[in-house]
Amino acid sequence: MNPGAFGHEESFIARPENFSSTALKRFTPEWLAYNSHPLAIRNEKIMVPTGDADSVSDRFDIRDCDRTMMAVVTTGNGGYDRLVYRQVPVPTLQRGEVLLQVLAAGVNNTEINTRLGWYSSSVTTATEDAAAIEEGEDIVRPDGGWSEATPFPFIQGTDCCGRVVAVADGFDEGIIGTRVLVRACMRTEGFGSLENIWMASDFDGAFAQFVKVPATEVFAVNCDWSDAELGTIPCAYGTAENMVHRAGVREGDHVLITGASGGVGSAAVQLVKRRGATVSAISGKTKAEQVRSTGAGHVLHRGDNIVAGFGEKSVDVVIDNVAGPAFGDVLKVLKRGGKYVSSGAIGGPIVALDMRTFYLKDLTLIGCTAWDEPVFPNLISYIERGELRPLLAKTFPLKDIVFAQREFLEKKHFGKFVLIPPPVRD
Ligand SMILES: NC(=O)c1ccc[n+]([C@@H]2O[C@H](COP(=O)([O-])OP(=O)(O)OC[C@H]3O[C@@H](n4cnc5c(N)ncnc54)[C@H](OP(=O)(O)O)[C@@H]3O)[C@@H](O)[C@H]2O)c1
Repeated sequence: MNPGAFGHEESFIARPENFSSTALKRFTPEWLAYNSHPLAIRNEKIMVPTGDADSVSDRFDIRDCDRTMMAVVTTGNGGYDRLVYRQVPVPTLQRGEVLLQVLAAGVNNTEINTRLGWYSSSVTTATEDAAAIEEGEDIVRPDGGWSEATPFPFIQGTDCCGRVVAVADGFDEGIIGTRVLVRACMRTEGFGSLENIWMASDFDGAFAQFVKVPATEVFAVNCDWSDAELGTIPCAYGTAENMVHRAGVREGDHVLITGASGGVGSAAVQLVKRRGATVSAISGKTKAEQVRSTGAGHVLHRGDNIVAGFGEKSVDVVIDNVAGPAFGDVLKVLKRGGKYVSSGAIGGPIVALDMRTFYLKDLTLIGCTAWDEPVFPNLISYIERGELRPLLAKTFPLKDIVFAQREFLEKKHFGKFVLIPPPVRD
């Protein structure tokens, strides 16, 4: 065991000078210069972080570093063998950044998709099929990330409930000790542009004992939820609230939510209900009762006839992160002038669109990935006001990420899985 590893053999005092001088140059000084207001909502430009070509290949080498931590490093596209639980250097803070001790990190499809390179246009199957095919195989998918090439090897983990343990030079140390959630979707050119980067897709995320993020992207949250419960929130609820917001869901609307037992789906049920709309849903048969318990009224089972079950032209908005073969039918149940909103396609990314359904019914199709400005601060306020309840299905130690992802892909659970990193002694 390396005596420098946090939480193992020695104590750690959370001051910037205690961090390794081995720089992790994912963020340029220009990028960091824009990030100087901790715990604030901003509408400013964020520069895209650029990798340092010389440091990328060996940036997890611990030989010359002062402090190490445990992390899951994803080494490239492929199966579970690409997930390596190992010691890596603790991130070195640069201007505008804070260091968080990760308390809990949710499990999301996106981490699996990114490892599989599922976002590549060469992949046309559902996530579960892609996962089965690729297990144990060597694959390289340069276009397999969300937008830019995935910066392998890197640390995934889109959800972070963490505690601020250090701040870059010049920052108010008063925020040290604050429990925060990280806004994983960061708008690189301000909220007037849709350009965005994601923690754990474009740079290192929370599958580690520590993660560094721009101070502007951490939000204090004051509530009695456990760390694991808060770890269910960022990706799923941010994504769901963004869709609800973009579709303009309001009191009295009838909203159909597919995949309603999953992370984004179950979040959407709660978020639509809190706006006073009526929810209908689709979920696996064994999970339908739990979906009802979150606020859905009429729940069809996955595979049921959607048009017969809900009726043609019966809903105002469809929130659909499943897509796949059912896509045509969910358009049929939309009323004239209805809105179809999506940020995922777990059931299959290639769908058949009957253009006549689209234009004859004056439908609006809304694609969503970049979170709009009010979304994350609103979410925090919903939690603090007790308007949401956490849907934590199960926790796993971080080192058991492979077990967690395997069980996650079985889709027998309701709500969210969360990984807990090993404790840190301070
Ligand atoms: N663009 C973004 O910013 C963004 C952010 C987050 C997530 N996403 C995407 O949104 C989708 C859902 O994410 P999530 O984290 O909520 O996933 P999840 O927790 O796995 O939930 C997805 C649900 O879809 C249902 N489903 C229906 N058909 C399925 C099929 N063929 N294979 C697997 N599940 C199926 C399952 O529920 P039943 O078994 O009950 O039917 C499952 O619970 C994923 O594609 C993810 O990549 C996108």
